[in-house]
Amino acid sequence: MDIYRTGIQPLLFSRLKVDPEWAHQRSLALLGRVAQHQTQFPFSRIEHLLKSAFSINATRLNQTIWGLSFQNPFGLAAGFDKDGVAAGIWHSFGFGFAELGTVTLHPQPGNPRPRLFRLSQDRAVLNRMGFNNQGAAALAKRLSQPSISLSLPIGINLGKSKITPLDAAARDYLASFRQLKAVGDYFVVNVSSPNTPGLRSLQDAAQLGQILEALQTENQGDKPILVKIAPDLEWEAIADILDLAKIYQLAGIIATNTTIRRDGLSTSILSRTGKPVTEEAGGISGAPLKQRSTEVIRWIYQQTQGQLPIIGVGGIFTAEDAWEKITAGACLIQTYTGWIYQGPGMVKQILEGLLTRLDQAGFNSISEAVGCQSSK
Ligand code: FNR
Repeated sequence: MDIYRTGIQPLLFSRLKVDPEWAHQRSLALLGRVAQHQTQFPFSRIEHLLKSAFSINATRLNQTIWGLSFQNPFGLAAGFDKDGVAAGIWHSFGFGFAELGTVTLHPQPGNPRPRLFRLSQDRAVLNRMGFNNQGAAALAKRLSQPSISLSLPIGINLGKSKITPLDAAARDYLASFRQLKAVGDYFVVNVSSPNTPGLRSLQDAAQLGQILEALQTENQGDKPILVKIAPDLEWEAIADILDLAKIYQLAGIIATNTTIRRDGLSTSILSRTGKPVTEEAGGISGAPLKQRSTEVIRWIYQQTQGQLPIIGVGGIFTAEDAWEKITAGACLIQTYTGWIYQGPGMVKQILEGLLTRLDQAGFNSISEAVGCQSSK
C-alpha cells in the first residue's frame, strides 16, 4: 500500500489544510539536513533506506547525453530545490538528474504570499513564486562544499533578477553563469517563467540572441546550455528559438514551463483567496499542462529531425505519461507537480513502467524509444 497517497497526502492536502509553501520548505529543510550529513550516522542510514525504497538500477535506462552519464531519464524539475539545499539527496529518491534554481544573480524574496496554491480537483498547482532564491553566489558556495556528494548530473537553471532592467538581462545571466559554471553539469536559460515582469519577452529572438551570445562567448563550448520555453508560444516563435539553437549551438530545449492559460480547469474559485482562478496571476503546472507540453516536444522533434535533445516536462504522473513524452521525442523528462501529488514512490513506479514498455515494444534501451512516435 502506498502510505503517502492513502495517508500523508490526504492529511496534508485536505484535512490539516497545511500551507503548501510551508510544507515544501519544512520537507526541503529536513532533506537538506540528511543531504548535508549523509556520511554520518543516523543520516547515512536514512539515506540508505531512501535509496533502497525509492531507486532502481537498470542499465537499459542509462544514456550518455552531452558527455554526461544519466542512470535514468527521469529528473527533478527546476523550482523544487531552487537553492540546492538538498542537492545531495535527489539520487536517493531515484532521480537520474536534478535541476536546481531558478537562481538569479541577486538574492531576492520573490512575490508576496500566498503564492503557491494546490488545485487538487485538477491535479494541478498554481504558482507565482517570482524566483525567490538566495542568489547565484550562495548556490555556488553551497555546491562547492567539500562535504557535498553529488552522484547524478546537476543542471542549474538561470533567471533574470527582478531589479535588473530587461535591456541589461544578458549581463545579469552572464554574471550568474560565471559564478556557477564550475559547479553545474548543464545550464538552462529560463526565459519562460510567467512570474517575473517582462521575462517571457526575452523569448523574442533578438533579446534571446543577446543572452545566448554572451553566455556562449564565455562558455567556449565547455558546458551544455539549454533554453526553457513556455507552452504558450506560437509555433513561429518556437521556430525562431530553434533557429537560435543552431546559431548559438544550444545543447537542447526544455519543454515546457508552466502555462498562463486557465481553460479546461474544474477549479473555479481559489479557496485561499476567494477569487476566481481566472483572476489569479501565476503559472499552472500538472495534469492540465500534459497534452500541450507533449505537443510542443513532438513538434520540436519533428522540426529538428531528432537532432536537438529535448527535456520534456509537464504533467507527468504515470509511466504512460512519461512514455508519451519520450516517444514524442524527449530524451530526458522531469517532474515537479506529479511528485507532490503521487509522493516519493512515483519515480520508481514510473521507471519500472518504462522498463515494461521497453519490453512490450521490443526495445533494448530507452534511447531506442526516444521519438519513435514523433510522427503521430
Ligand atoms: C515551477 N517551475 C519552475 N521552472 C523554472 O524553470 N524555474 C523555477 O523556478 C520554477 N519554479 C516552479 C515553482 C513551482 C511551485 C512549480 C509548480 C513549478 C516549473 C517546473 O519546473 C515545470 O516546468 C512545470 O511545473 C511543469 O512540470 P510539472 O510540474 O507539471 O511536472
